[in-house]
Amino acid sequence: MAINESREDIVARVKERADIVQIIGEVVDLKKSGARYLGLCPFHGEKTPSFSVHSGQQFFHCFGCGESGDVFSFMMKYHNLDFPSALKELAAKYSIALPERPRSAEQAKQDQFKKEMYAVSEKAAALYSRYLGTDKAAGARAYLTERGIPKDILTRFGIGYAPSVEGEGWDYFTDKLTESEKKASLEAGLSVKNDRGGVYDRFRDRVLFPIYEISGQVCGFGGRIIGEGQPKYLNSPESRIYNKSKLLLGLYQQKDAIRKKNQAIIVEGNFDLISLVCNGCENVVAPLGTALTREQLRLLKRFCDEIVLLFDGDEAGVKAAVRSVPHFLAEQVSGRVALLPEGHDPDTFVRERGLVAVEELVAGAETLPEFVFGQLVKEYGLTLDGKSKIVEELRPLVKAAASPLQRTVVITHFAEQLGISAEQLDSMLDRSVPPPVEEAPPPPPEPPVMRAVEQIEPLSKSQRRLVEFMVLNPSYLGRLEDGGLRECIAGSVGEVLFLQLRSLIAEHGEIEPEELLSKLPGGAERELVSDLLLEAPDAGDEHEADSLIGAEAEELLEWMRVYRLQRASRQLLDQISGMKTGGDFSLLQELLQKKQNIDRELKGPEL
Ligand code: UTP
Ligand code: MN
Repeated sequence: MAINESREDIVARVKERADIVQIIGEVVDLKKSGARYLGLCPFHGEKTPSFSVHSGQQFFHCFGCGESGDVFSFMMKYHNLDFPSALKELAAKYSIALPERPRSAEQAKQDQFKKEMYAVSEKAAALYSRYLGTDKAAGARAYLTERGIPKDILTRFGIGYAPSVEGEGWDYFTDKLTESEKKASLEAGLSVKNDRGGVYDRFRDRVLFPIYEISGQVCGFGGRIIGEGQPKYLNSPESRIYNKSKLLLGLYQQKDAIRKKNQAIIVEGNFDLISLVCNGCENVVAPLGTALTREQLRLLKRFCDEIVLLFDGDEAGVKAAVRSVPHFLAEQVSGRVALLPEGHDPDTFVRERGLVAVEELVAGAETLPEFVFGQLVKEYGLTLDGKSKIVEELRPLVKAAASPLQRTVVITHFAEQLGISAEQLDSMLDRSVPPPVEEAPPPPPEPPVMRAVEQIEPLSKSQRRLVEFMVLNPSYLGRLEDGGLRECIAGSVGEVLFLQLRSLIAEHGEIEPEELLSKLPGGAERELVSDLLLEAPDAGDEHEADSLIGAEAEELLEWMRVYRLQRASRQLLDQISGMKTGGDFSLLQELLQKKQNIDRELKGPEL
């Protein structure tokens, strides 16, 4: 191995050496079919194979769910690894030595100390869970039994009990530590120092929920008081190993259930989680007493495509759901919300009504955008003033959209709900910051124009052919644009691709279709392009290919001409039939005349 080999070089070397068919073939039954291999997609349930692996391009793609990528992304997605770990595994498999990152002495010391913090946390978890079985923990056991938690669940979650002062004094745990363990324990917040320098236990007389990292390492605890009292929960403080915004209670234990269901349910409380699991609802996690974060969603989406928030039906629950929307948008995960009847939390609900009632609630959960809109309408109403307030509230949501396509989807959705056009909403949102409150009230927004809003349309067959041609032959983009390309794919993912392609060409001049793929963010645009590239026939003889391409361009330009005329004719018809009887007669005549001209053009020249 060259000493100075860069990280990129190593990555490229591993990718070159790794055989994607072999790697995927270890977990998916692949059959050769032409130039590629086919199998059942491991990322979504299916009965007929739509998962293809291309050994030449070292690329996999699922036509069913759209998942695609190279050997690294497969390892990351399938085995839930981060990139460095995927690289490490592959390198080891193909006997490629990775350069040791030179660690400073200081760094090595830090790493060692973190290890000790993990070790002492592990020790605490073991000790406290064992203590739950002792005579002095009878009260804690009775409390847990009363809350309906059987022994096997206590074991699965490693639930423990930290003794009371009366039972074991102030330093039951701390007393069992060596000097260096004590240091780590203080740093992890398992022990605390008092003013006089004495060191004692943080957790006393509490039921303890260990918090696990995805790897299964214990890194912190949440401790509930037994019965009433304050604070109800005492949690580990933030530390080098415990970062509550990046952890989820239950993920380590329930991740397989989440993967199987391809759905995760998020509840707010520790006992909500445990109680649902006890009652057979297994695909659950809970944040650690704070609002849901983007990191937590990122963590979860490695295991499933859909996340359902199962929150209390009170104001706090609603607020929490609304606040999470930007994170969902930014992470491009689809989210839904189910609210519990007032006065219930998931724990009390499942115990009173049973699993089926929970499943019904989850099945009927609203999508996040619907939910948010419903809440905003409840708050502001649909008067003109209400609508403009709603638009203000939507601003951060739209801003959080992760891609142009997503922005269009969000805007289209809300515009339709507000009964205004997508363009109108877009420009209302574009208007920079709203005026400060002290100033005169803003001018009333233009009265909303009721009209059909363009949906994000799936591409028709011909549109798809057009987009495919555009992607595969970027040099024709200008000619297609002049022929009205944009109008022909308006409101679809194709339009977004067109805009991206155009700006890439403006920036780099000529580009290859593969470059477009590498410049696109994840999501629908990328999926479409990778589909198109995979479907594209191999270029044969170059001369022949050129003339075929020219002919296809002519055909497409003609299709576009007809498409635009038909569309204009339809729009005129809508406008005409939408006019009131006794309305503006000269306008009506003008519209009819226009339509006639267009229809004549559509029929072609008369002989
Ligand atoms: P809740 O107050 O809703 O409690 O807090 P709960 O989960 O229903 O608890 P039980 O059923 O009374 O035992 C929700 C979550 O917020 C965190 C905890 O993680 C709790 O599960 N929390 C709550 C704290 O971190 N500290 C607190 O003092 C209270
Ligand atoms: Mn509760």
